[in-house]
Amino acid sequence: MRDYKPRAIVHFAAESHVDRSILGPDDFIRTNVGGTFALLEEVRAYCADLNETGCTDFRFLHVSTDEVYGSLGPADPAFSETTAYAPNSPYSASKAASDHLVRAYHHTYQLPTLTTNCSNNYGPYQFPEKLIPLMILNARAAKTLPIYGDGKNVRDWVFVEDHCDAVRTVLARGRVGETYNIGGWNEKANLEIVETVCSLLDELCPNDPFIPHRKLISFVKDRPGHDRRYAIDARKIERELQWRPRETFESGIRKTVSWYLENEEWIKEVTSGSYRQWMEKQYATRGHDASRA
Ligand code: TYD
Repeated sequence: MRDYKPRAIVHFAAESHVDRSILGPDDFIRTNVGGTFALLEEVRAYCADLNETGCTDFRFLHVSTDEVYGSLGPADPAFSETTAYAPNSPYSASKAASDHLVRAYHHTYQLPTLTTNCSNNYGPYQFPEKLIPLMILNARAAKTLPIYGDGKNVRDWVFVEDHCDAVRTVLARGRVGETYNIGGWNEKANLEIVETVCSLLDELCPNDPFIPHRKLISFVKDRPGHDRRYAIDARKIERELQWRPRETFESGIRKTVSWYLENEEWIKEVTSGSYRQWMEKQYATRGHDASRA
């Protein structure tokens, strides 16, 4: 930091897959808690070296998740910035811990921090362990589409470029020490997401080995502690910073599916080796729930 004198750190680095955190929480504590702590300590030393104006202009933007707020019932209001933290998975607990550290470093050392809590991202370059790219790849290869539980868990989905745009907005105009929720205003049940992906693939890949793709859907053993519903109230960032997502779910999911169809080389590269081992470990023992078929 002394060499390059950055004007900001935008801290995206994290272990982010809930299923991996269930099978191996250690990496999540090390990366998400220890990693954030290490960055905060570096920033504390850096700011101590800068003159006061230098530090006032610096920003540490911490990118977090809506999962820190826990799970909602069907009629509960969406998460706002003042909703109490109630993380339920090792992943969300590690992110909650890192959020608290960021808050404490602002409060105690006056570090110029900003925190964003965003809902589920989707779009190009997402590693195919996450729901949407996993379903695209499996459907094209005529493999089953594993839906956890009854498929009625609800998430809010935001297109990745909208998320990046929101992060830029908060970096440029956010108030120091504040947190901002980012969402897509797109609450959807998992089953609806997978059916939409299947319909797009039916249209765009009519010569795939297995048509219609939705016949590959298979209900499997649920994720332990699976949060039922997340929903984001993104009115603060809209009111204070005039940010709203540009993409609708319909336009974003079409772009996403097309991207995966056009980028087979990237897919080949990321799905070799350790990816296969993960798929085996994660799905081999989940089975098929015939009662939900
Ligand atoms: P995921 O992409 O893992 O994100 P998160 O758990 O952070 O929300 O999963 C999104 C939803 O999809 C979640 O409710 C779990 C569900 N899911 C399945 O039903 N099957 C799968 O194979 C995966 C990976 C996820």
